[in-house]
Amino acid sequence: MAGRDAARTVGSGMRLGLGTGSTVAHFLESLGARIARGDVTDVAGVPTSIRTGDACRRLGIPLGTLEELAPLDLTVDGADEVAPGLDLIKGLGGALLREKMVAQASRRMIVIVDDTKIVDRLGQTAPVPVEVVPFEFASHLVWFTRLGADPVIRRDGEGVMYRTDNANLIVDCRFPGGIDDPAELEGRLARRAGVVESGLFLGLADEAIVAGDGGVRRIGGEGVS
Ligand code: A5P
Repeated sequence: MAGRDAARTVGSGMRLGLGTGSTVAHFLESLGARIARGDVTDVAGVPTSIRTGDACRRLGIPLGTLEELAPLDLTVDGADEVAPGLDLIKGLGGALLREKMVAQASRRMIVIVDDTKIVDRLGQTAPVPVEVVPFEFASHLVWFTRLGADPVIRRDGEGVMYRTDNANLIVDCRFPGGIDDPAELEGRLARRAGVVESGLFLGLADEAIVAGDGGVRRIGGEGVS
C-alpha cells in the first residue's frame, strides 16, 4: 500500500532516487506499471543497490548515475525504524552507503514503511548497521562496545561474512534500551577511520508513508502523529 501510494507521487520528468528492500520492491512494481501505461514519461532514477538496478531493468524503469541526474527531485526508500522528526535507522538490507549518498543528493525523501517500524526512540528495535572496510575490521568491535553497543559482524546462514555491494563488511550495533544521542553517535562513527558509513539517517527524510491495518497515513517532517 505504501509503495503504491509513493509511486503515485512520481510525476513526468522527475529524477528519482530508488531505494532498496522488500517495501521498495512494491514501489518499483507500481512505478514500472505506471511507466508501461504511459501515465508518467521521461523519468529516470539512480538505484541504491545492484538488486534495485536489476529490478528496474526488468521493470523498464530508466536508470542513470548521480553524475548524470543529480540533484534528484525525489528519493523513495524503506527504513528499519522511523523516530519522531523522521530520523531513521536503515541498512538491514545492506545498502546503507549508496542509500545515504542518493538521499543526500535529493531535494525530497519519502520513506515507505509499515507501522511496526515506528518507534519513540532510535535503536529500540533495530541495530545500527555500520559499514566498515575489511582491513582490521575486528579492531572496531571493542570501540563499538565502549560506545554502548553490542556489536555483531553480519554473516549469512552459513557463517560467511556478508559483503556489501561495495565489497565492505557490516557490523550490526545493537544499543540496549535505544540510542541516547543519535547525532553524537553519528558524528563519532563518521570520525572513525575504517568506518565507511552508518545506518543513522538524521534529518534526511521529509515525509513517511505508513501502512497499517487501518490503511495508509502520511507523516510530515515535523513529527510522528
Ligand atoms: C536496505 O539497505 C535498507 O535500508 C532498507 O531500506 C530497509 O532495511 C527496509 O527494508 P524493508 O522494506 O525490506 O523492511
